[in-house]
Amino acid sequence: MAEVVKKKEIEITYHGVLKNGHRSYFELSILKVVHLFKGKNMKLKGFGYIFTCLTLTVSFSASAQFAKPEDAIKYRKAALTVLGTHFSRLGAMAQGKTPFDAKQVIENEAVIEVVSKLPWSAFVEGSDKGETKAKPEIWKDAAKFKEAQDRFMTESLKLSAAAKSGKLEDLKTATAAVGGACKNCHDNFREK
Ligand code: HEC
Repeated sequence: MAEVVKKKEIEITYHGVLKNGHRSYFELSILKVVHLFKGKNMKLKGFGYIFTCLTLTVSFSASAQFAKPEDAIKYRKAALTVLGTHFSRLGAMAQGKTPFDAKQVIENEAVIEVVSKLPWSAFVEGSDKGETKAKPEIWKDAAKFKEAQDRFMTESLKLSAAAKSGKLEDLKTATAAVGGACKNCHDNFREK
């Protein structure tokens, strides 16, 4: 069951990515793969494979190397800034500081869903020095840092469901849990 939910999320993400500029590239790869399967006379079964191919493409581009450690630092800080901006808009609605608007919740959540995946591949070796608040523990205790990411990604999935429900109560619960996951990581891995 959990696996099915996960797959669905991945497809939704592609939608986001497609919309954000890589459209023709992805369409091209889909066409190519479909073509390939047609040639081999494979029917719908091939779809699972098509998505596997796309997963590979996406994770390749996500882990693309940065030319310099500073570039990785800039990239992750930019992604976290965008994440923080959209998350605080949800937080403001959840806390009644701004009016609850289900449509805006969905729009902000869609940005969070894409952006929340970006920072982690930019914590590359050698990017512990410079204009950064990243603690050395990120590299010393990589397993714990990964755990903090996983907790956050799990809570983010629930936020996505809460946004779709259109209920303020659901938004409150989910933003509190996600906020807790941000704080958990910051407490352990970010300088004050
Ligand atoms: C798995 C760990 C982790 C999680 C989860 C996490 N962060 Fe962070 N965050 C960091 C680290 C590490 C830094 C410092 C990055 C740096 O300076 O290189 C940071 C920095 C930031 C910054 C400052 C960026 C800048 O320009 O200096 C903001 C804003 C931020 N996080 C917001 C959030 C929000 C909001 C969430 C949750 C919705 C969140 N973060 C979740 C680890 C995390």
